[in-house]
Amino acid sequence: MKTVAFFDTKSYDKESFLKLQDENINIRFFENKLNADTVSMAACCDAVCAFVNDSIDKKVIDELERFGVGLVAMRCAGYNNVDIKYARGRVKIARVPAYSPYAIAEHAMGMILMLNRKLHRAYIRTRDHNFSLEGLTGFDLNGKKVGIIGTGKIGMAFAKVCEGFGMDIIGYDPYPSKDFIGKYVDLDELLSNSDIISLHCPLTKENRYIINTDTISKIKKGAFIINTSRGHLIDTEALINGLKSGNIGAAGLDVYEEETALFFEDYSDEIIHDDTLSTLISMPNVIVTSHQAFLTKEALNGIAKTTMQNLKDYFDGEKLENEVII
Ligand code: NAI
Repeated sequence: MKTVAFFDTKSYDKESFLKLQDENINIRFFENKLNADTVSMAACCDAVCAFVNDSIDKKVIDELERFGVGLVAMRCAGYNNVDIKYARGRVKIARVPAYSPYAIAEHAMGMILMLNRKLHRAYIRTRDHNFSLEGLTGFDLNGKKVGIIGTGKIGMAFAKVCEGFGMDIIGYDPYPSKDFIGKYVDLDELLSNSDIISLHCPLTKENRYIINTDTISKIKKGAFIINTSRGHLIDTEALINGLKSGNIGAAGLDVYEEETALFFEDYSDEIIHDDTLSTLISMPNVIVTSHQAFLTKEALNGIAKTTMQNLKDYFDGEKLENEVII
């Protein structure tokens, strides 16, 4: 029997993984995030399973190696929170490269519809018997230009959603794909022409703060920015300045650069000590969701299926198809 420590688990994780329970794998669910303070909980385990806001840095990797933990099975696509270079030769890293790109693409469109048609404000108004339409004017998405940064699995699924709305689709990606249904342009052209910009690239050293003061100055006045990828793609202070000046018309953020301390937890009875996030949340043209875009039944089941397969492959000595190697 092999034992796997699952970190940062919530009820919905347990539900999807327990359905696929394997008689040879003993899962120990922990609510704590995996980091240098909690890694000792993985002692005596054969593998760990981690998520987007766990921190698999040098210290954690050293400890995992010392405990004889051979695999970190990420139950997500991104691995920017793993020191991949340092892990090499010490602990294997596997991930779930694809589960449901539609889940994230549909959430991105959900945020666009909400921001454009001010559904968040209308919902509150009518509950208060305020049936006024003042301030709720949106625009037709049909015929508007959407700029997609990162045209991989999610970017392409999002492009198809936008196609259904009759939008004109342009994309920027250093590795263009022939399957992309839009027109490729360079980043500056995308920024200056798009009515809506949606981020769908992974976070790398090169594209950290791809949305910054300089790139925001190139954005078409009043354009929307949607980020369902990773928080550090946007310099939040620059975004706030862009929103204050009106250069940016609205922002839909499913991710936030300082999300690790807050997202996935309930702080509704507490005062949040993050003035930047508080400023964003206070703006009528900003929607923040707490890294929720992946959260559909189909995606959760897909994540559980591939993660269990990754664990089995590793324990059975089979080729680890989804190993992250750089
Ligand atoms: P993918 O690997 O299929 O596609 C990523 C694309 O981005 C590739 O075509 C790549 O060439 C491109 N790219 C890389 N660097 C770029 C840059 N500097 N500028 C523009 N394009 C660049 O990945 P997939 O599955 O589409 O996921 C994209 C990202 O979405 C993930 O890396 C993750 O950060 C995020 N994500 C967010 C979720 C959420 O719940 N909010 C859930 C799942 C993924």
